[in-house]
Amino acid sequence: MNLQSQRVVVIGGSSGIGLATAIEAAKQGASIVIAGRSADKMEQAKKLIPAESVEAFQLNNQKEEEVQAFFEKVGAFDHLFTPGASYTRGPITIDTEKAKTPFEGKFWPQYFAAKHAVPHISRDGSIVLMSGAFSQRPMGFGATYGAANGAIESLGKALAVELAPIRVNVVSPGTIWRDGPEGEQRAQAFEEYKEVTLLRRVGYNEEIAHTVLYLMTNKFTTGSVLFPDGGYTLI
Ligand SMILES: NC(=O)c1ccc[n+]([C@@H]2O[C@H](COP(=O)([O-])OP(=O)(O)OC[C@H]3O[C@@H](n4cnc5c(N)ncnc54)[C@H](OP(=O)(O)O)[C@@H]3O)[C@@H](O)[C@H]2O)c1
Repeated sequence: MNLQSQRVVVIGGSSGIGLATAIEAAKQGASIVIAGRSADKMEQAKKLIPAESVEAFQLNNQKEEEVQAFFEKVGAFDHLFTPGASYTRGPITIDTEKAKTPFEGKFWPQYFAAKHAVPHISRDGSIVLMSGAFSQRPMGFGATYGAANGAIESLGKALAVELAPIRVNVVSPGTIWRDGPEGEQRAQAFEEYKEVTLLRRVGYNEEIAHTVLYLMTNKFTTGSVLFPDGGYTLI
């Protein structure tokens, strides 16, 4: 159960959890396709992915026609992971256009990806959708973000039923460590997370990549939502 000679597509594979997953899949012998908006970020990412074949495609996954054209260019492949997302969070009083962004920037892009991947994905392949443990334990200031994650988890189960034997699963992580300016900005959130998890720490990209690779390679797992969150959803 590994990804030797498999073709793995990661939309949002140029940084964070998506890049870590592309790297770990490459280490198992997969060829890799990554997609994202910034060509520069993908050039940098390509240097870090240890696969014989790494292809990169520019894509705004909020545009369904771009998503469809992307999969037509990619052609046949085995596994899809869809962490590419951009959205804002805020209280119920925020502007409605901003409140819609978790659905427009995270839910619908993954729906479009699953829809247009189906003609090209191997019948014994899989789709892993990206959610977030905020779905089960919201902390405030993100009602539509929590709702979008909940919707993604339901979407994964419904697609597992509709698309079988293609397997569909969802990964729903807790808070993940970030270095650099983003990490500095989120330092307080990282400290607070320690107080609300059983394992008293944030997670790492590689730990989420490990979960995604399990969901891709375990051929008896479908319709599952896994929570690599250090126990956040339990306390
Ligand atoms: N980090 C956490 O603590 C955490 C916790 C739980 C869940 N998650 C979820 O995990 C996912 C990824 O998070 P991350 O922290 O790994 O993010 P990240 O490091 O910011 O990476 C996001 C990736 O998605 C791409 N992307 C963003 N908008 C896109 C668009 N419109 N079209 C195509 N690609 C797009 C980015 O490239 P470009 O910018 O070049 O497009 C990049 O490759 C998100 O759905 C997030 O909600 C994260």
